[in-house]
Amino acid sequence: MNADIAAASQELKGGGVVILPTETVYGLAANALDEKAVRKIFTIKGRPLNNPLILHVLDSSWLERYSHVKKYPVRVEKITGAFWPGPITIILPKKAVIPDIVTSGYGTVAIRCPDHPIFRAVLLASDLPLAAPSANPFGYVSPTCIGQVKATLGDRVKIMLDGGECAVGLESTILDITSTVPKILRPGAIAADAIAKVLGEDVIDYDVQIVSKNPCVPGQLKQHYCTDTRLVLFEHGNRDLSQYFAGRTAIVFTQRPKDFDGTVKNLQLLAEAILWFSDDGNLNVVARNLFSTLQRLDFAHYDTILCERPPRTGIGIAIDDRLLRAAAKFRR
Ligand code: TXA
Ligand code: MG
Repeated sequence: MNADIAAASQELKGGGVVILPTETVYGLAANALDEKAVRKIFTIKGRPLNNPLILHVLDSSWLERYSHVKKYPVRVEKITGAFWPGPITIILPKKAVIPDIVTSGYGTVAIRCPDHPIFRAVLLASDLPLAAPSANPFGYVSPTCIGQVKATLGDRVKIMLDGGECAVGLESTILDITSTVPKILRPGAIAADAIAKVLGEDVIDYDVQIVSKNPCVPGQLKQHYCTDTRLVLFEHGNRDLSQYFAGRTAIVFTQRPKDFDGTVKNLQLLAEAILWFSDDGNLNVVARNLFSTLQRLDFAHYDTILCERPPRTGIGIAIDDRLLRAAAKFRR
């Protein structure tokens, strides 16, 4: 692995791109200070240039190099002290050293400190801030294992480091600390109430309904994370599903169904496959398995994937956000 880390670091220093694991999802990384290298990320993903990237740093001591962190010393210290390294990205005013291509011309930059030993080793070895979006073609499901990356971007990137299954499975929470009241721009594993508690002030939580009508950044697109297969959501606990069947249908529950003798038995007669994201409904497990299950079902070419929405608490808000946006393409 040391040789892999050295090779990845060399590639990045030479202006190349590499696939790296993080604790949230796999990333497609480039030297954020090298405009030409960053451009490759947009080309490989087919991502529009107006959708800014997240800058990855080794620790909070790097913040000063790339942002005007001193404008928000208390908030930054509280958030980084409590959650870094970990799945939360903060928005700060950017310094001129960061090329406009990274931030799509915004005056702010999104910064995160990932908690995966391989990503951290590459940051340390290269001593470079790394711009890294999720390693999926633009608009498609995000990858949480190397197999998922290989199946989509495999022929477009030379160096891919395998760091196993991502522990969190959903992209980081994005928190704008530059607004008067701190605001969640993307929900993730670290939820609003935990952030409010650490900050000791109110936090504006994410509301998918408001955001999809009026996105403030391109990443808040109504439609994202989409499978090619038609994806239909049903409310948590609903078992009256026959109306949603269309062609070869697979069903995914949030947890292992208990009544295999009752309603679920009838569904078994109709469905081509019945799966569940977790055995016991643990939402952290649901999050971890969400994207890999959706991509696996997509590659199996069913006509319809019926998927249960999670309870909307804690990380359930982030899971539900990804599902709503993934199914948006198929809603009439
Ligand atoms: O967990 C993660 O954050 C993963 C891993 C690889 O670190 N990265 C990730 O990157 O999810 P990406 O590019 O898929 O999503 C970045 C999001 C986009 O929604 C983008 O609009 C938002 O961050 N973003 C970036 N810069 C921003 C800024 N200055 N203000 C507001 N939003 C910003
Ligand atoms: Mg993404």
